[in-house]
Amino acid sequence: MAVHYTIRDGVAVITLDNPPVNGLGHSTRFGIVEGIERARDDAGVGAVVLIGAGKAFSGGADITEFNTPKATQEPTLATVIKAVEGSDKPVVAAIHAIAMGGGLELALGAHYRVASRGAQIALPEVKLGLLPGAGGTQRLPRAVGVRTALNMIVSGTPVLSERLADTALFDEMAEGDLLDAAVRLATRVAASGGPHPKLRDREMDQTNADGLIQSARDGIAVSAKHFPAPHKCIDAIEKGVKEGFERGLAFERECFLFLVQTPESRALRHAFFSERAASKIADVPSNTPVRTIARIGVVGAGTMGGGIAMNFVNAGLPVVLLETNQDALDRGLATIRRHYEAQAKKGKLTPEQAGERMRLIQPTLDYADLAQADLIVEAVFEDLGVKEQVFRRLDEIARPGAILASNTSTLDLNKIAAFTRRPGDVVGMHFFSPANVMKLLEVVRGEQTAKDVLATVMQLAKKIRKTAVVSGVCDGFIGNRMIEQYLRQALFMLEEGALPAQIDRAIEAFGFAMGPFRMSDLAGNDIGWAIRKRRYVEQPDMRYSGVADKLCEMGRFGQKTGAGWYDYEAGSREAKPSQTVDDMIVAYSGERGVERRQIGDDEIVERLVLSLVNEGAKILEEGIAAKASDIDMVYLSGYGFPLWRGGPMFHADTLGLANVERAMRKYAQQPNGEAWQPAARVAELAASNGRFNH
Ligand SMILES: NC(=O)c1ccc[n+]([C@@H]2O[C@H](COP(=O)([O-])OP(=O)(O)OC[C@H]3O[C@@H](n4cnc5c(N)ncnc54)[C@H](O)[C@@H]3O)[C@@H](O)[C@H]2O)c1
Repeated sequence: MAVHYTIRDGVAVITLDNPPVNGLGHSTRFGIVEGIERARDDAGVGAVVLIGAGKAFSGGADITEFNTPKATQEPTLATVIKAVEGSDKPVVAAIHAIAMGGGLELALGAHYRVASRGAQIALPEVKLGLLPGAGGTQRLPRAVGVRTALNMIVSGTPVLSERLADTALFDEMAEGDLLDAAVRLATRVAASGGPHPKLRDREMDQTNADGLIQSARDGIAVSAKHFPAPHKCIDAIEKGVKEGFERGLAFERECFLFLVQTPESRALRHAFFSERAASKIADVPSNTPVRTIARIGVVGAGTMGGGIAMNFVNAGLPVVLLETNQDALDRGLATIRRHYEAQAKKGKLTPEQAGERMRLIQPTLDYADLAQADLIVEAVFEDLGVKEQVFRRLDEIARPGAILASNTSTLDLNKIAAFTRRPGDVVGMHFFSPANVMKLLEVVRGEQTAKDVLATVMQLAKKIRKTAVVSGVCDGFIGNRMIEQYLRQALFMLEEGALPAQIDRAIEAFGFAMGPFRMSDLAGNDIGWAIRKRRYVEQPDMRYSGVADKLCEMGRFGQKTGAGWYDYEAGSREAKPSQTVDDMIVAYSGERGVERRQIGDDEIVERLVLSLVNEGAKILEEGIAAKASDIDMVYLSGYGFPLWRGGPMFHADTLGLANVERAMRKYAQQPNGEAWQPAARVAELAASNGRFNH
């Protein structure tokens, strides 16, 4: 039963009990309406309390019902709220811990509200590209005022209950037991005989409403350029302010029905569900026991090791940080210290917190200090010989059951695992740079990686606030393997007629955070060079344009050398188009006998994005990624793919696979067309009118 009905001192207590957060699924909604009717018909009952069992009042819609008929089956939330608001006997909502989305809208339909301190109050629908669809945009402004309502609804950010204590949202803050307080309030208001207030009837404070609405619009002009929902949230609030509750409510409904169909909302919902889905691994049941991880070891205090160590200490986990020599160790620690000091200066940490984090790091040159670690992450030079030395040492000193992780970007994890006598304990943890900032963590599953090791690392990823996606073993894993094809196309297009600034501009206009050339200049062009040199030997039939090698031969490695695809003035990160580079590119085309042509922005975007899709499809065929949504998560959280497009595979679904395949076949006819043989999965889905994501 999702709802319980009991009587206490003449008050009907309707308890929502649908763990984990009392989602308003069909049976919960049904139970509430039933409870209200039962109270109505019971002469011994004078008032009603609505309360949540367990961890929340209510987190809102039941996400397990999303996209199922139950989500819209009567009684809908609007019907439930009507029943609550229309009850002759006063209804008191008793709120603790969480009142979000539909949960808060339900409470707004009650006549009175009492809250515990520390409850998170929010209407977060905007984060899914929607707006509150059950009166939230109309009742909340009447409860907390236009300014606060705009802030809450447009941002979706939770506010603590005590910060709203002096608004009409709460009649009382409960000091002791919440249910006691609610029953007392219910008894009192029942005795008063009414009338019982309804937020819909409450006069709204109109002071400076126009100004507030305009400044909300100004506030989102840039950030919500690609998102219709924040605009609709403001429109709906404005409608209610200017034309009253009923019109506002009707307009809110209209906006909801519009938004739910927008590609942006579909993409945001896809991202939301994909992140949850990524943490589930088909053959690793959710009840797989996890290993205790309390002490961490990190080997290598360079660019990655330092950032990786910070992730753990930020989550309160002590780290032993090992280097080969004192100089490298000192350098690594100094970088970490500078980071925390800068954070303290910016007010993001107190000086005490910064100090505490530094104290959680124990620097060492001695492997014996790693003997007690539960997880050791290796981040040494990308060289199999060096990795071998390190993993053989770790195998000698690590305690039985310790997890041994490698941060390798390109090396074969199975080979690394084979350097130990415990390959089941070895896993890849592929962080992205800067490791303390980037959300993405590719968890690389070796042939022998144990299920409980995977389950442990996935759980730990949550603790250090990473978006973890499992990848099988292959060169580049999911993300870098796909980006290689994207970069290849970018270089071909230079050779065929485009210039770096045009390509970057086109793909940034599509929504990427950074185009391929600005990105390469940031990462260092020598990294790609090293990869290509390896490719020329390993995969001689995978042709690359030589134009990037030319650039590297000129010593233009990117920002770190002050020159790359662009010019950089000393101390500046601003990319300025370079005449030298543009001349070099044109000359290169000439040398190769290529007649340069105008390449349109549409072609640029299509070739870059579809190159990701084609490689992604192969990654699915090979089982490197378990599902298309995992690939989308990698690109949304690690590669700056525009969130409102939902990731490359989702974007392909939106385009339609038949169109995707047709474009690939068209490019296959052009120069450099050999890269465009559509993956079998693309052809299959095109033929069956299928989708990557279901
Ligand atoms: N830089 C990136 O963007 C990035 C991203 C993801 C993964 N990675 C991977 O992370 C690893 C480290 O890369 P990085 O960029 O931090 O390199 P880096 O050169 O900045 O740091 C490597 C550190 O390891 C230390 N080291 C070398 N041999 C060691 C040993 N035997 N024992 C202990 N310490 C040793 C070095 O002194 C150096 O401080 C590589 O495997 C790389 O492929 C790098």
